[in-house]
Amino acid sequence: MTESNQPQYNADGLATFHNCEFLSDPRFQNAYRFGMQVGTLRRLDLHIEWRAWIALWAAEQALLVPGDFVECGVHTGILSGTIAHWTGFAKRADRTMWLLDTFDGLPEEQLNDGERAIGLQAYNNDYRNQDTLAQVTAKFRDYPNIRIVPGAVPGTLAQVTAERVAYLSIDMNMALPEIAAATHFWPKLSPGGVVLLDDYNWMPHIHQKRAFDAFAAERGLRVLGLPTGQGILIKPP
Ligand SMILES: C[S@@+](CC[C@H](N)C(=O)[O-])C[C@H]1O[C@@H](n2cnc3c(N)ncnc32)[C@H](O)[C@@H]1O
Repeated sequence: MTESNQPQYNADGLATFHNCEFLSDPRFQNAYRFGMQVGTLRRLDLHIEWRAWIALWAAEQALLVPGDFVECGVHTGILSGTIAHWTGFAKRADRTMWLLDTFDGLPEEQLNDGERAIGLQAYNNDYRNQDTLAQVTAKFRDYPNIRIVPGAVPGTLAQVTAERVAYLSIDMNMALPEIAAATHFWPKLSPGGVVLLDDYNWMPHIHQKRAFDAFAAERGLRVLGLPTGQGILIKPP
């Protein structure tokens, strides 16, 4: 048996010697490229291919059950864009993808004391940008079934009129709005539907992990923490 002494992937807090052949799949490359592009907000320094690959798996699982797609915490739409492209979402007239974000960073009053002590407010050096909403709107102009909902969660949750949800992506970098979103959408989530937590296993996001561990335990479940830093919950039948 021969094995390369170089990791197949070494980025975004993850190094692995295991199979990463998806990285050279042109279909994946095209979808990821669309996810990464938002005009001047394009972030060339980021390599979150493994996270995107996990999100595509979650999206495909979600397509097996009825319901809309929801993402809370969209920013430039890397994950949502990759999914929209990969799944040909524009042609899925029976589904809507709802994209919720302030498009102007974290409402800092929602940080708890622990999160503030860790310094999560510093994310706003990246996320505060007046152009984000316009550029994300332009990015998804060819997707008539993608609905962009600007404003702060939880205040905007009621604007999502989906009766059923199949895919719920939560990526707002702090516990309060994330637990509010999970609590709001859980009853609408179809059995077999997927909740993808982007921050769950990242060390600075320990408060979100603790909160989601409690959320899952209250429902007799356990979050699957991934080496990408993500977490996954599947609604049982
Ligand atoms: C890590 S980024 C999301 C990245 C995104 N999932 C992607 O694939 O590119 C976090 C986003 O959460 C948003 N956010 C944080 N708190 C929020 C809240 N309470 N309501 C709405 N959006 C919020 C920020 O504006 C920021 O754009």
